[in-house]
Amino acid sequence: MLFLSEACERNKDPILQILRGAFAASRTVLEIGSGTGQHAVYFAHQLPKLNWQSSETAQHLPALRARIEQAGAVNLPPPVELDVRRQPWPVTRIDSVFSANTLHIMSWQAVEEFFRGVGALLGADAVLCVYGPFRYAARYTSDSNEAFDRYLQERDAASGIRDFEAVNALAASEGLRFEADHDMPANNRTLVWRRGT
Ligand SMILES: C[S@@+](CC[C@H](N)C(=O)[O-])C[C@H]1O[C@@H](n2cnc3c(N)ncnc32)[C@H](O)[C@@H]1O
Repeated sequence: MLFLSEACERNKDPILQILRGAFAASRTVLEIGSGTGQHAVYFAHQLPKLNWQSSETAQHLPALRARIEQAGAVNLPPPVELDVRRQPWPVTRIDSVFSANTLHIMSWQAVEEFFRGVGALLGADAVLCVYGPFRYAARYTSDSNEAFDRYLQERDAASGIRDFEAVNALAASEGLRFEADHDMPANNRTLVWRRGT
């Protein structure tokens, strides 16, 4: 059975508009925490020049694999098992990285590993795009995000909406230069960093 995320269906077109520009010079993109695989299938179809490498933790890999197999697209290789906490990551020859709705799900320690792994993987001029909710100057961008953060932390105290400044500091420590912050529907953002030369 294939799982369906309604949020993915709603946000895939607005995200696509950003990725078209951000990944224009990339050939192979690694997606971290691909979930149901809806984004992978849609972006690979809409951006046929990209090779879209999806990935997931062991627990969610079978469902992701089923969707990628069903799509049967030439630019969608089989997903790889990737837990950001297990370094080094089992991928090479990646131009850029995409991840949606993951940094507020994983622990802060895992967020640190996320950036460590991205830093080890990406070469000059590579791009990192991260979609999701963020706080700025320790403030939520909406009441609904504040309520969502409460819900997340009650469910798992290690999770929670991240502060843009703290995430950006991790990116900077890996040589990633902050390039853009796009306002997205439903109080989300798409953050873009570029690896300096
Ligand atoms: C809310 S889902 C988002 C899935 C999909 N990207 C989307 O936008 O619908 C969060 C995802 O983060 C993944 N994740 C959590 N911890 C992770 C880790 N340590 N390494 C890699 N992925 C992780 C989960 O497996 C899950 O698929």
